Amino acid sequence: MIKFLEGKKIYLRPLVDKDLSGDYLRWINDSKNDKFTEHAQFPHRVEDLKMYAQSKQHDSSCIWLAVVEQESNHHIGNIELYNIDLVHRNGEFKILIDKSFQGKGYGEEATRLILQYAFKTLNLHRVYLGVHENNKKAINLYQKMGFIEEGILRESFLRDGIWKNSIVMGMLSTEFKDTKKIS
Ligand SMILES: CC(C)(COP(=O)(O)OP(=O)(O)OC[C@H]1O[C@@H](n2cnc3c(N)ncnc32)[C@H](O)[C@@H]1OP(=O)(O)O)[C@@H](O)C(=O)NCCC(=O)NCCS
Repeated sequence: MIKFLEGKKIYLRPLVDKDLSGDYLRWINDSKNDKFTEHAQFPHRVEDLKMYAQSKQHDSSCIWLAVVEQESNHHIGNIELYNIDLVHRNGEFKILIDKSFQGKGYGEEATRLILQYAFKTLNLHRVYLGVHENNKKAINLYQKMGFIEEGILRESFLRDGIWKNSIVMGMLSTEFKDTKKIS
């Protein structure tokens, strides 16, 4: 098994076929864990996930990895750098941790690993993301990591008939505080 990026509590590896029909199918369709994101706004079948995974394999502008618990080897989430632009050296970030594995420090460790990879291996200059204005868990995580609020996309997110703002946050390579060396 490839442990592509390894931390203490989790590691990141490419997704394999069996991930697509396991717990992932449940949490990607879980609208209760999708208040502030978009993963469950359309239904996903195993076939859809397989097609998505194949498209990612041939897409050099993204890296899509499974977050796996070290102790159990359980697939608990996904993390992605996408829209990678090698001229302007930036990339967009997203993460999803299964509800039952949240609050254990896994999201933070996975984010740190991918930022290390983005800045120190891919040599990116800026990593950015968009987050729902009420997604406090995610905003706290991003602020803790050192992301800075760069702007507001007004009324860019519709849920239950209500328009909400998205916050654009970004981090430059010079702002990445790699204080906790992992592995
Ligand atoms: C946002 C998310 C990735 C955080 O992952 P996690 O594994 O639960 O977070 P961690 O346990 O590593 O916590 C890291 C930090 O996140 C913030 N955080 C986590 N849970 C929180 C909570 N319940 N309330 C407030 N802040 C919280 C804190 O800053 C925390 O640091 P601290 O423990 O020192 O306070 C996870 O909740 C998730 O996947 N949510 C659903 C999908 C989503 O919203 N993705 C982001 C889209 S932009």
